[in-house]
Amino acid sequence: MTESPPSALVFDPFAPGFTDDPYPHYAEMRDGAPVHQHPVGFWLLTRYEDVSWLLRAGLSVEDRNLAESSPFRMMQEAMYGDRLPRFDARSMLDRDPPDHTRLRRLVAKAFTPRAVRALRPHVVELVDGMLDAMGRARRVDLIEALAFPLPFAVIAKMLGTPSSDHERIRELTGVVVRSLEPVADPDLVSAIVAADAELAGIAAEMIAWKRENPADDLLTALINAEDDGDVLGEEELIAQTLLLYIAGHETTVNLIGGGALALLRDPGQQALLRDDPGLVANAVEEMLRYDSPVQASRRITVEPVTVGGVEIPAGAFVMASLASANRDERFWGPDAGELRLNRENARQHVSFGAGPHHCLGASLARMEACIAFERLTARFPHLSRDGEVRWNGRINLRGPSHLPVSTG
Ligand code: HEM
Repeated sequence: MTESPPSALVFDPFAPGFTDDPYPHYAEMRDGAPVHQHPVGFWLLTRYEDVSWLLRAGLSVEDRNLAESSPFRMMQEAMYGDRLPRFDARSMLDRDPPDHTRLRRLVAKAFTPRAVRALRPHVVELVDGMLDAMGRARRVDLIEALAFPLPFAVIAKMLGTPSSDHERIRELTGVVVRSLEPVADPDLVSAIVAADAELAGIAAEMIAWKRENPADDLLTALINAEDDGDVLGEEELIAQTLLLYIAGHETTVNLIGGGALALLRDPGQQALLRDDPGLVANAVEEMLRYDSPVQASRRITVEPVTVGGVEIPAGAFVMASLASANRDERFWGPDAGELRLNRENARQHVSFGAGPHHCLGASLARMEACIAFERLTARFPHLSRDGEVRWNGRINLRGPSHLPVSTG
Protein backbone atom coordinates (compact mmCIF):
# COMPACT_ATOMS: atom_id res chain seq x y z
CA MET A 1 0.00 0.00 0.00
CA THR A 2 1.19 3.50 -0.79
CA GLU A 3 -0.03 6.83 0.52
CA SER A 4 -3.25 8.32 -0.86
CA PRO A 5 -2.77 10.68 -3.80
CA PRO A 6 -2.95 14.40 -3.02
CA SER A 7 -5.98 14.85 -5.28
CA ALA A 8 -9.38 13.92 -3.86
CA LEU A 9 -10.24 12.25 -7.14
CA VAL A 10 -9.87 8.46 -7.18
CA PHE A 11 -10.24 6.43 -10.35
CA ASP A 12 -13.04 3.94 -9.73
CA PRO A 13 -13.76 1.51 -12.57
CA PHE A 14 -16.05 -0.46 -10.25
CA ALA A 15 -18.41 2.52 -9.74
CA PRO A 16 -22.02 1.83 -10.80
CA GLY A 17 -22.55 2.73 -14.44
CA PHE A 18 -18.83 2.96 -15.28
CA THR A 19 -18.76 0.08 -17.77
CA ASP A 20 -21.89 1.44 -19.52
CA ASP A 21 -20.36 4.90 -19.90
CA PRO A 22 -16.85 5.51 -18.57
CA TYR A 23 -16.37 8.79 -20.44
CA PRO A 24 -17.62 11.31 -17.84
CA HIS A 25 -15.28 9.75 -15.26
CA TYR A 26 -12.34 9.88 -17.69
CA ALA A 27 -13.10 13.55 -18.38
CA GLU A 28 -12.93 14.24 -14.61
CA MET A 29 -9.61 12.42 -14.40
CA ARG A 30 -8.15 14.32 -17.39
CA ASP A 31 -9.09 17.63 -15.80
CA GLY A 32 -8.44 16.94 -12.13
CA ALA A 33 -5.78 14.20 -11.91
CA PRO A 34 -4.24 13.47 -15.32
CA VAL A 35 -1.28 11.57 -13.80
CA HIS A 36 -3.07 9.69 -11.08
CA GLN A 37 -1.81 7.26 -8.49
CA HIS A 38 -4.56 5.01 -7.26
CA PRO A 39 -4.58 4.17 -3.53
CA VAL A 40 -3.74 0.50 -4.33
CA GLY A 41 -0.57 1.64 -6.09
CA PHE A 42 -1.07 1.61 -9.87
CA TRP A 43 -0.92 4.77 -11.99
CA LEU A 44 -3.39 5.99 -14.61
CA LEU A 45 -2.68 8.38 -17.50
CA THR A 46 -5.67 9.92 -19.26
CA ARG A 47 -4.39 12.76 -21.48
CA TYR A 48 -3.56 12.16 -25.15
CA GLU A 49 -0.06 13.58 -24.92
CA ASP A 50 0.90 11.44 -21.90
CA VAL A 51 -0.73 8.25 -23.21
CA SER A 52 0.88 8.66 -26.58
CA TRP A 53 4.29 9.19 -24.95
CA LEU A 54 3.93 6.16 -22.69
CA LEU A 55 3.06 3.80 -25.56
CA ARG A 56 6.09 4.88 -27.56
CA ALA A 57 8.55 5.20 -24.67
CA GLY A 58 9.73 1.59 -24.96
CA LEU A 59 8.98 0.81 -21.32
CA SER A 60 8.61 -2.72 -20.04
CA VAL A 61 5.53 -4.95 -20.18
CA GLU A 62 7.17 -7.72 -18.22
CA ASP A 63 7.93 -7.98 -14.54
CA ARG A 64 10.97 -10.26 -14.60
CA ASN A 65 13.45 -7.56 -13.61
CA LEU A 66 11.39 -6.20 -10.76
CA ALA A 67 11.81 -6.64 -7.04
CA GLU A 68 9.29 -8.83 -5.20
CA SER A 69 8.03 -5.72 -3.43
CA SER A 70 7.28 -3.74 -6.61
CA PRO A 71 3.68 -2.53 -6.69
CA PHE A 72 3.12 -4.47 -9.92
CA ARG A 73 4.35 -7.80 -8.47
CA MET A 74 2.20 -7.24 -5.40
CA MET A 75 -0.92 -6.61 -7.51
CA GLN A 76 -0.36 -9.69 -9.67
CA GLU A 77 0.37 -11.72 -6.56
CA ALA A 78 -2.83 -10.50 -4.89
CA MET A 79 -4.94 -11.45 -7.92
CA TYR A 80 -3.41 -14.67 -9.24
CA GLY A 81 -0.74 -15.93 -6.81
CA ASP A 82 1.40 -18.28 -8.91
CA ARG A 83 -1.46 -19.12 -11.31
CA LEU A 84 -0.84 -16.36 -13.85
CA PRO A 85 -2.71 -17.20 -17.08
CA ARG A 86 -0.47 -18.45 -19.90
CA PHE A 87 -2.00 -15.95 -22.23
CA ASP A 88 -0.67 -13.14 -20.05
CA ALA A 89 2.66 -14.61 -19.15
CA ARG A 90 3.99 -15.86 -22.48
CA SER A 91 2.30 -14.05 -25.35
CA MET A 92 4.21 -11.28 -27.15
CA LEU A 93 1.83 -8.77 -25.60
CA ASP A 94 3.62 -9.40 -22.30
CA ARG A 95 7.20 -9.82 -23.42
CA ASP A 96 10.08 -7.38 -23.66
CA PRO A 97 12.97 -7.56 -26.12
CA PRO A 98 14.71 -9.73 -27.07
CA ASP A 99 11.79 -12.20 -26.73
CA HIS A 100 9.19 -9.69 -27.90
CA THR A 101 11.19 -8.84 -31.02
CA ARG A 102 11.71 -12.51 -31.79
CA LEU A 103 8.07 -13.57 -31.22
CA ARG A 104 6.65 -10.60 -33.08
CA ARG A 105 8.93 -11.18 -36.06
CA LEU A 106 8.01 -14.85 -36.26
CA VAL A 107 4.26 -14.23 -35.98
CA ALA A 108 4.35 -11.25 -38.36
CA LYS A 109 5.92 -13.54 -40.95
CA ALA A 110 2.75 -15.58 -41.02
CA PHE A 111 0.61 -12.44 -40.86
CA THR A 112 1.64 -10.53 -43.96
CA PRO A 113 -0.42 -7.82 -45.72
CA ARG A 114 -0.71 -10.27 -48.62
CA ALA A 115 -2.24 -12.91 -46.34
CA VAL A 116 -4.71 -10.32 -45.02
CA ARG A 117 -5.65 -9.12 -48.53
CA ALA A 118 -6.24 -12.70 -49.61
CA LEU A 119 -8.96 -12.96 -46.94
CA ARG A 120 -11.06 -10.17 -48.48
CA PRO A 121 -13.35 -12.34 -50.66
CA HIS A 122 -14.00 -14.61 -47.69
CA VAL A 123 -14.91 -11.64 -45.46
CA VAL A 124 -17.28 -10.28 -48.14
CA GLU A 125 -18.95 -13.68 -48.45
CA LEU A 126 -19.32 -13.99 -44.68
CA VAL A 127 -20.78 -10.49 -44.31
CA ASP A 128 -23.23 -10.99 -47.17
CA GLY A 129 -24.41 -14.30 -45.71
CA MET A 130 -24.96 -12.63 -42.32
CA LEU A 131 -26.81 -9.70 -43.89
CA ASP A 132 -29.03 -12.13 -45.86
CA ALA A 133 -30.02 -13.77 -42.59
CA MET A 134 -30.65 -10.35 -41.01
CA GLY A 135 -32.87 -9.36 -43.92
CA ARG A 136 -34.97 -12.48 -43.46
CA ALA A 137 -35.31 -11.99 -39.69
CA ARG A 138 -35.90 -8.19 -39.90
CA ARG A 139 -35.44 -7.75 -36.12
CA VAL A 140 -32.13 -9.02 -34.78
CA ASP A 141 -29.45 -8.48 -32.19
CA LEU A 142 -26.67 -6.94 -34.27
CA ILE A 143 -23.99 -8.35 -31.96
CA GLU A 144 -25.22 -11.93 -32.43
CA ALA A 145 -26.01 -11.46 -36.10
CA LEU A 146 -22.83 -9.72 -37.29
CA ALA A 147 -20.47 -8.02 -34.84
CA PHE A 148 -19.45 -11.20 -33.00
CA PRO A 149 -19.69 -13.99 -35.60
CA LEU A 150 -17.77 -12.11 -38.29
CA PRO A 151 -14.40 -11.63 -36.53
CA PHE A 152 -14.74 -15.00 -34.83
CA ALA A 153 -15.30 -16.81 -38.13
CA VAL A 154 -12.38 -14.97 -39.70
CA ILE A 155 -9.81 -15.75 -36.99
CA ALA A 156 -11.09 -19.33 -36.60
CA LYS A 157 -10.65 -19.90 -40.33
CA MET A 158 -7.25 -18.18 -40.39
CA LEU A 159 -6.02 -20.50 -37.66
CA GLY A 160 -7.65 -23.51 -39.32
CA THR A 161 -9.85 -24.38 -36.32
CA PRO A 162 -12.20 -27.40 -36.63
CA SER A 163 -15.79 -26.15 -36.38
CA SER A 164 -16.54 -28.67 -33.60
CA ASP A 165 -14.27 -26.57 -31.32
CA HIS A 166 -15.79 -23.16 -32.16
CA GLU A 167 -18.47 -22.99 -29.47
CA ARG A 168 -16.17 -24.04 -26.63
CA ILE A 169 -13.39 -21.70 -27.78
CA ARG A 170 -15.88 -18.86 -27.93
CA GLU A 171 -17.01 -19.55 -24.34
CA LEU A 172 -13.48 -19.93 -22.99
CA THR A 173 -11.98 -16.88 -24.69
CA GLY A 174 -14.87 -14.82 -23.28
CA VAL A 175 -13.60 -15.73 -19.79
CA VAL A 176 -9.82 -15.55 -20.38
CA VAL A 177 -10.17 -12.07 -21.85
CA ARG A 178 -11.08 -10.81 -18.37
CA SER A 179 -7.43 -11.31 -17.37
CA LEU A 180 -6.75 -8.08 -19.29
CA GLU A 181 -8.47 -6.01 -16.62
CA PRO A 182 -8.55 -5.67 -12.82
CA VAL A 183 -10.64 -8.43 -11.27
CA ALA A 184 -12.01 -8.13 -7.75
CA ASP A 185 -13.99 -11.40 -7.61
CA PRO A 186 -11.95 -14.49 -6.54
CA ASP A 187 -14.42 -16.83 -8.30
CA LEU A 188 -13.78 -15.00 -11.56
CA VAL A 189 -10.02 -15.34 -11.02
CA SER A 190 -10.43 -19.12 -10.61
CA ALA A 191 -12.66 -19.23 -13.71
CA ILE A 192 -10.01 -17.32 -15.72
CA VAL A 193 -7.25 -19.69 -14.63
CA ALA A 194 -9.38 -22.78 -15.45
CA ALA A 195 -10.50 -21.42 -18.83
CA ASP A 196 -6.91 -20.54 -19.71
CA ALA A 197 -5.78 -24.12 -18.96
CA GLU A 198 -8.61 -25.66 -21.00
CA LEU A 199 -7.99 -23.32 -23.91
CA ALA A 200 -4.27 -24.12 -23.81
CA GLY A 201 -5.19 -27.84 -23.96
CA ILE A 202 -7.35 -27.26 -27.05
CA ALA A 203 -4.57 -25.24 -28.69
CA ALA A 204 -2.00 -27.96 -27.90
CA GLU A 205 -4.21 -30.61 -29.53
CA MET A 206 -4.70 -28.43 -32.59
CA ILE A 207 -0.96 -27.85 -32.87
CA ALA A 208 -0.23 -31.58 -32.61
CA TRP A 209 -2.81 -32.28 -35.30
CA LYS A 210 -1.46 -29.58 -37.61
CA ARG A 211 2.07 -30.92 -37.22
CA GLU A 212 0.78 -34.19 -38.68
CA ASN A 213 -1.62 -32.55 -41.14
CA PRO A 214 -0.11 -29.27 -42.31
CA ALA A 215 -2.52 -27.03 -44.20
CA ASP A 216 -2.65 -23.60 -45.77
CA ASP A 217 -3.49 -21.76 -42.55
CA LEU A 218 -1.98 -19.41 -39.95
CA LEU A 219 -1.39 -22.10 -37.33
CA THR A 220 0.61 -24.25 -39.77
CA ALA A 221 2.51 -21.10 -40.76
CA LEU A 222 3.27 -20.35 -37.09
CA ILE A 223 4.50 -23.91 -36.56
CA ASN A 224 6.77 -23.55 -39.59
CA ALA A 225 7.78 -19.92 -38.98
CA GLU A 226 11.54 -19.87 -38.76
CA ASP A 227 14.15 -17.16 -38.57
CA ASP A 228 17.82 -18.07 -38.74
CA GLY A 229 17.05 -21.49 -37.32
CA ASP A 230 14.88 -19.97 -34.58
CA VAL A 231 11.35 -21.42 -34.22
CA LEU A 232 8.53 -20.96 -31.72
CA GLY A 233 8.76 -23.42 -28.81
CA GLU A 234 5.65 -25.44 -27.86
CA GLU A 235 4.59 -23.18 -24.96
CA GLU A 236 5.28 -20.08 -27.05
CA LEU A 237 3.18 -21.45 -29.88
CA ILE A 238 0.29 -22.13 -27.52
CA ALA A 239 0.47 -18.62 -26.01
CA GLN A 240 0.61 -16.87 -29.41
CA THR A 241 -2.32 -19.00 -30.60
CA LEU A 242 -4.40 -17.93 -27.57
CA LEU A 243 -3.39 -14.30 -28.13
CA LEU A 244 -4.47 -14.44 -31.77
CA TYR A 245 -7.82 -16.02 -30.89
CA ILE A 246 -8.57 -13.41 -28.27
CA ALA A 247 -7.09 -10.35 -29.99
CA GLY A 248 -8.62 -11.54 -33.25
CA HIS A 249 -12.24 -11.32 -32.19
CA GLU A 250 -12.80 -9.93 -28.67
CA THR A 251 -11.68 -6.53 -29.98
CA THR A 252 -13.25 -6.29 -33.45
CA VAL A 253 -16.65 -7.25 -32.01
CA ASN A 254 -16.48 -4.01 -29.99
CA LEU A 255 -15.51 -1.99 -33.05
CA ILE A 256 -18.42 -3.25 -35.15
CA GLY A 257 -20.91 -3.25 -32.25
CA GLY A 258 -19.81 0.06 -30.71
CA GLY A 259 -19.44 1.70 -34.12
CA ALA A 260 -22.91 0.61 -35.19
CA LEU A 261 -24.41 1.90 -31.95
CA ALA A 262 -22.67 5.28 -32.32
CA LEU A 263 -24.02 5.54 -35.85
CA LEU A 264 -27.56 4.56 -34.89
CA ARG A 265 -27.56 7.13 -32.10
CA ASP A 266 -26.72 9.87 -34.59
CA PRO A 267 -29.03 9.83 -37.64
CA GLY A 268 -27.15 12.78 -39.21
CA GLN A 269 -23.92 10.76 -39.28
CA GLN A 270 -25.77 7.65 -40.46
CA ALA A 271 -27.12 9.68 -43.39
CA LEU A 272 -23.65 11.04 -44.13
CA LEU A 273 -22.28 7.53 -44.62
CA ARG A 274 -25.38 6.46 -46.57
CA ASP A 275 -24.92 9.39 -48.98
CA ASP A 276 -21.16 9.02 -49.29
CA PRO A 277 -20.09 5.35 -49.08
CA GLY A 278 -16.53 6.43 -49.96
CA LEU A 279 -16.32 7.80 -46.42
CA VAL A 280 -16.28 4.32 -44.90
CA ALA A 281 -12.52 4.03 -44.22
CA ASN A 282 -12.44 7.37 -42.37
CA ALA A 283 -15.73 6.50 -40.66
CA VAL A 284 -14.14 3.35 -39.24
CA GLU A 285 -11.17 5.39 -37.91
CA GLU A 286 -13.61 7.77 -36.23
CA MET A 287 -15.56 4.88 -34.73
CA LEU A 288 -12.26 3.53 -33.35
CA ARG A 289 -11.56 6.93 -31.82
CA TYR A 290 -15.04 7.59 -30.53
CA ASP A 291 -15.42 4.35 -28.57
CA SER A 292 -12.12 2.56 -28.15
CA PRO A 293 -12.63 -1.24 -28.46
CA VAL A 294 -9.62 -1.78 -26.18
CA GLN A 295 -9.83 0.89 -23.52
CA ALA A 296 -6.41 0.61 -21.92
CA SER A 297 -2.84 -0.63 -22.29
CA ARG A 298 -0.31 -1.02 -19.53
CA ARG A 299 3.40 -0.64 -19.03
CA ILE A 300 5.81 -1.18 -16.16
CA THR A 301 8.53 1.34 -15.33
CA VAL A 302 11.99 -0.10 -14.81
CA GLU A 303 13.41 3.27 -13.75
CA PRO A 304 11.78 6.49 -12.53
CA VAL A 305 10.03 8.50 -15.28
CA THR A 306 8.54 11.99 -15.26
CA VAL A 307 5.15 12.39 -16.95
CA GLY A 308 3.23 15.67 -17.00
CA GLY A 309 5.59 17.01 -14.33
CA VAL A 310 4.93 14.08 -11.97
CA GLU A 311 7.61 11.51 -11.10
CA ILE A 312 6.53 7.89 -11.31
CA PRO A 313 8.95 5.54 -9.50
CA ALA A 314 10.58 2.38 -10.88
CA GLY A 315 8.51 -0.80 -10.65
CA ALA A 316 5.20 1.02 -11.11
CA PHE A 317 2.28 -0.42 -13.06
CA VAL A 318 1.07 2.36 -15.36
CA MET A 319 -2.25 2.15 -17.19
CA ALA A 320 -2.70 4.28 -20.28
CA SER A 321 -6.34 5.00 -20.99
CA LEU A 322 -6.60 4.81 -24.78
CA ALA A 323 -10.31 5.58 -24.50
CA SER A 324 -9.69 8.76 -22.56
CA ALA A 325 -6.83 9.92 -24.82
CA ASN A 326 -9.15 9.46 -27.78
CA ARG A 327 -11.61 11.92 -26.21
CA ASP A 328 -9.11 14.49 -24.92
CA GLU A 329 -10.37 17.95 -25.93
CA ARG A 330 -6.82 19.28 -25.57
CA PHE A 331 -5.84 17.24 -28.62
CA TRP A 332 -9.09 16.79 -30.59
CA GLY A 333 -10.77 20.11 -29.91
CA PRO A 334 -14.13 20.95 -28.33
CA ASP A 335 -16.08 18.36 -30.38
CA ALA A 336 -13.95 15.46 -29.06
CA GLY A 337 -17.07 13.90 -27.50
CA GLU A 338 -18.99 13.84 -30.77
CA LEU A 339 -18.93 11.37 -33.64
CA ARG A 340 -17.72 13.16 -36.80
CA LEU A 341 -17.24 10.61 -39.56
CA ASN A 342 -15.35 13.11 -41.70
CA ARG A 343 -12.95 14.20 -38.93
CA GLU A 344 -9.70 14.89 -40.73
CA ASN A 345 -7.25 13.57 -38.17
CA ALA A 346 -9.37 10.64 -36.94
CA ARG A 347 -6.54 8.22 -37.81
CA GLN A 348 -4.42 9.73 -35.05
CA HIS A 349 -6.42 7.78 -32.46
CA VAL A 350 -4.47 5.43 -30.20
CA SER A 351 -6.98 2.57 -30.32
CA PHE A 352 -4.44 0.19 -31.84
CA GLY A 353 -1.78 1.30 -29.37
CA ALA A 354 1.52 2.70 -30.69
CA GLY A 355 5.22 1.95 -30.53
CA PRO A 356 6.72 -1.53 -30.26
CA HIS A 357 3.42 -3.28 -29.38
CA HIS A 358 1.28 -1.56 -32.03
CA CYS A 359 -1.53 -3.93 -32.98
CA LEU A 360 -0.37 -6.60 -35.40
CA GLY A 361 -3.95 -7.20 -36.59
CA ALA A 362 -4.88 -3.56 -37.30
CA SER A 363 -5.17 -4.00 -41.07
CA LEU A 364 -7.30 -7.11 -40.64
CA ALA A 365 -9.62 -5.36 -38.17
CA ARG A 366 -9.90 -2.33 -40.47
CA MET A 367 -10.74 -4.52 -43.44
CA GLU A 368 -13.43 -6.46 -41.56
CA ALA A 369 -15.05 -3.28 -40.24
CA CYS A 370 -14.93 -1.45 -43.59
CA ILE A 371 -16.59 -4.35 -45.41
CA ALA A 372 -19.17 -4.74 -42.63
CA PHE A 373 -20.18 -1.04 -42.58
CA GLU A 374 -20.05 -0.58 -46.33
CA ARG A 375 -22.38 -3.49 -46.98
CA LEU A 376 -24.58 -2.97 -43.92
CA THR A 377 -25.25 0.65 -44.92
CA ALA A 378 -25.93 -0.22 -48.57
CA ARG A 379 -28.20 -3.11 -47.70
CA PHE A 380 -30.13 -1.55 -44.82
CA PRO A 381 -29.94 2.24 -45.28
CA HIS A 382 -32.63 2.77 -42.66
CA LEU A 383 -31.37 0.39 -40.01
CA SER A 384 -32.65 1.54 -36.62
CA ARG A 385 -32.44 0.65 -32.95
CA ASP A 386 -35.22 -1.57 -31.73
CA GLY A 387 -34.79 -2.13 -28.00
CA GLU A 388 -32.47 -1.65 -25.04
CA VAL A 389 -28.72 -1.71 -25.54
CA ARG A 390 -26.75 -3.75 -23.03
CA TRP A 391 -22.99 -3.42 -22.41
CA ASN A 392 -20.66 -6.34 -21.77
CA GLY A 393 -19.70 -5.08 -18.29
CA ARG A 394 -15.97 -5.07 -19.07
CA ILE A 395 -13.54 -2.35 -18.08
CA ASN A 396 -11.00 -2.97 -20.83
CA LEU A 397 -12.35 -4.86 -23.86
CA ARG A 398 -15.59 -2.92 -23.58
CA GLY A 399 -18.49 -2.84 -26.02
CA PRO A 400 -22.22 -3.55 -26.38
CA SER A 401 -23.28 -7.14 -25.71
CA HIS A 402 -26.84 -6.69 -27.08
CA LEU A 403 -27.85 -4.24 -29.76
CA PRO A 404 -31.39 -4.96 -31.00
CA VAL A 405 -32.04 -3.46 -34.43
CA SER A 406 -34.71 -3.45 -37.07
CA THR A 407 -33.57 -3.69 -40.69
CA GLY A 408 -36.28 -1.20 -41.73
C1 HEM B 1 -1.86 -5.58 -29.85
C2 HEM B 1 -6.06 -3.18 -30.24
C3 HEM B 1 -7.63 -6.38 -33.54
C4 HEM B 1 -3.61 -8.97 -32.88
C5 HEM B 1 -2.86 -4.65 -29.72
C6 HEM B 1 -2.76 -3.47 -28.89
C7 HEM B 1 -3.95 -2.82 -28.97
C8 HEM B 1 -4.79 -3.56 -29.88
C9 HEM B 1 -4.35 -1.54 -28.23
C10 HEM B 1 -1.52 -3.03 -28.12
C11 HEM B 1 -1.53 -3.37 -26.68
C12 HEM B 1 -0.38 -2.71 -25.95
O1 HEM B 1 0.10 -1.63 -26.32
O2 HEM B 1 0.04 -3.24 -24.92
C13 HEM B 1 -6.84 -3.83 -31.18
C14 HEM B 1 -8.12 -3.37 -31.64
C15 HEM B 1 -8.58 -4.27 -32.57
C16 HEM B 1 -7.55 -5.30 -32.68
C17 HEM B 1 -8.83 -2.11 -31.15
C18 HEM B 1 -9.85 -4.30 -33.36
C19 HEM B 1 -10.64 -3.29 -33.54
C20 HEM B 1 -6.68 -7.35 -33.67
C21 HEM B 1 -6.77 -8.49 -34.55
C22 HEM B 1 -5.64 -9.25 -34.34
C23 HEM B 1 -4.83 -8.56 -33.35
C24 HEM B 1 -7.91 -8.77 -35.52
C25 HEM B 1 -5.18 -10.54 -34.95
C26 HEM B 1 -5.87 -11.40 -35.59
C27 HEM B 1 -2.81 -8.27 -32.00
C28 HEM B 1 -1.52 -8.76 -31.55
C29 HEM B 1 -1.02 -7.79 -30.66
C30 HEM B 1 -2.02 -6.72 -30.60
C31 HEM B 1 -0.84 -10.07 -31.95
C32 HEM B 1 0.28 -7.84 -29.87
C33 HEM B 1 1.33 -6.99 -30.52
C34 HEM B 1 2.59 -6.91 -29.68
O3 HEM B 1 2.56 -7.10 -28.45
O4 HEM B 1 3.65 -6.66 -30.27
N1 HEM B 1 -4.10 -4.67 -30.34
N2 HEM B 1 -6.53 -5.00 -31.83
N3 HEM B 1 -5.50 -7.42 -32.96
N4 HEM B 1 -3.08 -7.05 -31.43
FE1 HEM B 1 -4.74 -5.97 -31.74
